[in-house]
Amino acid sequence: MKFLHVIAAIAWLGGISFMLFALRPASAQLAPPQRLPLILQAMERFFQLVWVTVIVLLLTGLAMLMGVGMKNAPAGWHAMLGIGLVMFALFGHLYFGPFRRLKNAVKASDWPEGGRRAGQIATLASINLGLGVLAIAAVFFMA
Ligand code: HEM
Repeated sequence: MKFLHVIAAIAWLGGISFMLFALRPASAQLAPPQRLPLILQAMERFFQLVWVTVIVLLLTGLAMLMGVGMKNAPAGWHAMLGIGLVMFALFGHLYFGPFRRLKNAVKASDWPEGGRRAGQIATLASINLGLGVLAIAAVFFMA
């Protein structure tokens, strides 16, 4: 369970890191009509993977929690459950809000709107990256 859980966490957080720290800055040198379709296509593929990681994290995390019982679980595990649920909600918001609007903007060649939506997605993804680090710190450092 923990093996699958950690693989899913690496895939999700590693993917966000790549998007934020590699693809986004590297694509900044392209003009919006080239940059935004490229970013959109990368996101379309990556977000399919994120849905899988969310399901795997939730199922394996809950299985580990149930294995010891909520009452016996250390505080760090409860913190991870809480932070994880916030991360899932933020991703759902990002996917059905700004990401859907980015798709529409690219379809309509509305580059200023697309740029705004890509920026919002980057902000939400940065928050999720920070929360992911906090969630991992919780199981490491909270008794
Ligand atoms: C509802 C969501 C989640 C639940 C119920 C949950 C639960 C757990 C539990 C019970 C453990 C075992 C801790 C231990 O053995 O000491 C664990 C470990 C871990 N979790 Fe989660 N988790 C959730 C979400 C997440 C998320 C969103 C991430 C990061 C993206 C994450 C990353 C990790 C990592 C890296 C470990 C391994 C830490 C270690 O070495 O013990 N988890 N989680």
